[in-house]
Amino acid sequence: MSIAVCPGSFDPITLGHLDIVRRANRLFDVVVVGVARNAAKNALLTADERVEVARAAVAADPDTADVRVDVVPGLLVDFCREVGALAVVKGLRGGADFDGEQPMALMNRHLSGVETVFLPAEQQHAHVASSLVKDIARHGGPIDDLVPSAAAEAVRSAVAHRA
Ligand code: PNS
Repeated sequence: MSIAVCPGSFDPITLGHLDIVRRANRLFDVVVVGVARNAAKNALLTADERVEVARAAVAADPDTADVRVDVVPGLLVDFCREVGALAVVKGLRGGADFDGEQPMALMNRHLSGVETVFLPAEQQHAHVASSLVKDIARHGGPIDDLVPSAAAEAVRSAVAHRA
């Protein structure tokens, strides 16, 4: 059985992330979304909120309803070993993403042998980034066509009460 992990900070999960999860789910028998606990140092949402939002988002789409979402408590390679994943799947919006991802992919392979599979982001999602979503929300702008509805609500609430 082929198992893959789609890891990230997911602060919050975006429609671009979900497209990658959906496409990974076609390539692998089992896909687990791994929400890194400490990756986002200045996270707006707590790890539990990021997991809750990601779970609601994958459950809402029949193409991803069978995808699991869990916290990555430490190293990604340890999480991959725990779930039996031989591959990590990440989306690339462009060269800057590749430059950031390549060292992590090589380090993860160095640490445990896990391979990373890169999927090119759909052009319609090339400008969608969690950081921009949060910035737009902080200024009262529209984010509903960038993130799933659970994420939009969680971000708006966090911005209103915490930011
Ligand atoms: O969405 P992001 O923030 O680009 O994802 C980065 C992430 C979560 C994949 C990366 O920070 C990660 O794997 N964190 C878990 C801790 C770890 O394994 N660090 C070493 C990576 S080589």
